[in-house]
Amino acid sequence: MKKILLIALLLTQYACNVKLADHYYLSSPDDSINLKIEINDGGLFYSVKKNNVQILEPSKLGIISDVFSFDSGFVLKKVERNQIRTAWNQVWGEEAVVKDHHNELFLQFAQENGDFRVRFRAFDDGIGFRYEIPKGDFSDYKIIDELTQFNLSEDSPSWWIPAYAYRRYEFLYANTLVSRISRDTYSQVVENLGGPRIGPEAVQTPFTIQRKDGITLSIHEANLTNYSSMTLKTNGTKNLECDLVPWSTGVKVYVDSDLNTPWRTIMIADKASDLPMSSLTLNLNEPNKLKNTDWIKPGKYIGLWWEMIGTNQSTWGSGPNHGAKTGRVKEYIDFGSKYGFDGVLVEGWNLGWDENWCCTGDGEKFSFYESHPDFDSDEVNAYAKKKNIRLVGHHETGTQISNYESQLERAFQYCQSNGIRVVKTGYVNDGSQNIKRIGNDGKIYREWHHGQFMVEHFRKVLETAAKYQVGLVVHEPIKDTGLRRTFPNMLSREGAKGQEFNGFMSSKDNNKPNHTTILPYTRLLSSPMDYTPGIFKLTNYRYFAPDNRTINPNHRIPSTIAKELALYVVIYAPVQMAADLPSHYEDHPGFQFILDVPTDWSTTKVLNGEIGEFITTARKDRFSSDWFLGSITNEHRRKVNISLSFLDKEFDYKAIVYKDPDDGGWLENPEEVVIVEKYVTYKDEIEIDLLPGGGQAIHFKALK
Ligand code: NOJ
Ligand code: CA
Repeated sequence: MKKILLIALLLTQYACNVKLADHYYLSSPDDSINLKIEINDGGLFYSVKKNNVQILEPSKLGIISDVFSFDSGFVLKKVERNQIRTAWNQVWGEEAVVKDHHNELFLQFAQENGDFRVRFRAFDDGIGFRYEIPKGDFSDYKIIDELTQFNLSEDSPSWWIPAYAYRRYEFLYANTLVSRISRDTYSQVVENLGGPRIGPEAVQTPFTIQRKDGITLSIHEANLTNYSSMTLKTNGTKNLECDLVPWSTGVKVYVDSDLNTPWRTIMIADKASDLPMSSLTLNLNEPNKLKNTDWIKPGKYIGLWWEMIGTNQSTWGSGPNHGAKTGRVKEYIDFGSKYGFDGVLVEGWNLGWDENWCCTGDGEKFSFYESHPDFDSDEVNAYAKKKNIRLVGHHETGTQISNYESQLERAFQYCQSNGIRVVKTGYVNDGSQNIKRIGNDGKIYREWHHGQFMVEHFRKVLETAAKYQVGLVVHEPIKDTGLRRTFPNMLSREGAKGQEFNGFMSSKDNNKPNHTTILPYTRLLSSPMDYTPGIFKLTNYRYFAPDNRTINPNHRIPSTIAKELALYVVIYAPVQMAADLPSHYEDHPGFQFILDVPTDWSTTKVLNGEIGEFITTARKDRFSSDWFLGSITNEHRRKVNISLSFLDKEFDYKAIVYKDPDDGGWLENPEEVVIVEKYVTYKDEIEIDLLPGGGQAIHFKALK
């Protein structure tokens, strides 16, 4: 475990000796964000100013359970203040060192039948607060409602995906005023959500809003532990309210120990392009709990995957086109080893794919340690070892949670004994409230993907994986709330509409060119994503069926090769996939960028961008003085000027530029990439010409 680097720690505390007042203030270290907390007859309220502009109006706080009601009638008992000025090292990440500078206010209230505590923290990049109810005051109770409100002071444009909808977080973003949010609106502007319409009108977090004055906010949560996910309930106004995803019983959260709720967070930035630099979520998680992290290695992987989901030439299940055959996997191992990849993902290696594995949770039971007869586990693992590459395991659960949990120990033991250090898990179930839970009474109950039941399941898998020194890349996950700080084997996750939708959906319904220009300001604020970039064959790639090898012309990836390369920098993940077929990479000049780009950085700078339009991100390699830049645009062509002042001053750099040709773009000539080299220093400025739906990737190689 890396040593915590303490740059400076200043801690001041005072308690009990303050005069108790009916309102309190808390400011960020740079004083740009001011929080006001008021206690009055109606209860407890907070409001927020940024640069002296009111951005949140008084908004209520509180929790109601079956044994207490922290709603009103608070009597203040204790006030504490702290100032923290410190920094900590990341095992891997976008930044090697994360600064944690914040001011804290802790309020403890006495109520008729117990105490209620709220802890507020103000950082330069936003605020967080949580409720704390130690065991002893109350135990074994049920939370019926959390009252937290977010009353915006302006009805602003927002970017959102619906909660209580059938496909988890895998939706394109709607962009509407906050007051217009509803499933009907979503069905009009993005995709028909159909039925069943159960659950309230609500959005998932991170939920991003941009005010008229440019101030950009994103509401989210940090450290989602032993609790249920927070969605934001809407009501046709600019006001939002916390809505906890319930159990099938209607209870929101069952509590049987000390309760620190997840932090409710608001990232706040002067402009959109400052938002992705926020470290608020990570700072509000607990420090690394894993004693030894030497086995956690970021890196890149290829996989036997796109030939199922993209080109449609192979199957996961048995049959003549089964992909995961020993010989075929060995070809992937040869390719991965030749080019120095760290891992080879193999999907369809195990038993359970033959009967209805998708998409209802009713299929055959998967085994997580018994391989399919076509896949000789011993032979393949020995071959991988010889070729100095590791297999990436695959656990598609089909959301059969009890089946998976009953095999967890053995499944991860299998990984450890076969040298597998990363497992991709999966939870496909395209129903709304449709995850089966077997109750203590033996009956089957149906749960939401985002409720406490699944939060606890995902944690159990993460902790078991850590025990066997395995890192996770979770598909159909619970949202990222920064747990990778505490468990650095929580490597990456999907949790948004990823590249796969370009694979299996026709051009009419797949991701649009602007999708990846929205993600950095929304889903990626909670970071890493297994988007699986790097598709080079963007047209005429998909067959009608594995046994009908005629090209289906209705498929086109809304991207260009240069944009696919830029995504390796724009979308952060410690393990990144080179998602296309080896044959589409072999001898391709653009492939060199994928081989060169790191997945672990010493620092990151978002140089410019607007939500849904464009973004330019520069990152410095953690182990050299090389810098990498990715710039992407939506469907519009645009030119952006970049100052290279971020480059290290002591080096000259060779810039290897991967760009779209002048006649390129996602609709015209997307599969040609132009590579040019030039010499630059930190004093230079460059102009980047982004073609429609395109991008540009640059490797700045430090010259010795
Ligand atoms: C959905 C995942 O997102 C995809 O990557 C995977 O191939 C399939 N499920 C099968 O597990
Ligand atoms: Ca998925």
